[in-house]
Amino acid sequence: MNPSPSHYRQHVFFCCNQREPGGRVCCNDAGATRLRDYAKQQIKKLGLAGKGRVRVNQAGCMERCEEGPCLVIYPDAVWYTYRCEADIDEIIDSHVRNGDVVARLRLP
Ligand code: FES
Repeated sequence: MNPSPSHYRQHVFFCCNQREPGGRVCCNDAGATRLRDYAKQQIKKLGLAGKGRVRVNQAGCMERCEEGPCLVIYPDAVWYTYRCEADIDEIIDSHVRNGDVVARLRLP
């Protein structure tokens, strides 16, 4: 029996965790939910969304809070930080579309 193909080619997980004010930093304070929504919108607009293609997902804390806001792309297991729409565009254009890692935004 042949192994079944993956339902999605890639998952882009955004930590959107929100903490109470005054505690440890969190990704949502740096715009994670807003930029996750932007990424979803762009992925859809570019025709990359859907079965066999790319899925943008919301995640809880991934314990890289101080390095965030962070996202991780699987199955590549490449972690990124980002600050703005232009960073998201670069990650989509370079990594998601072409498989080229964006070194300047990559988390070690
Ligand atoms: S709050 Fe995002 S990694 Fe912890």
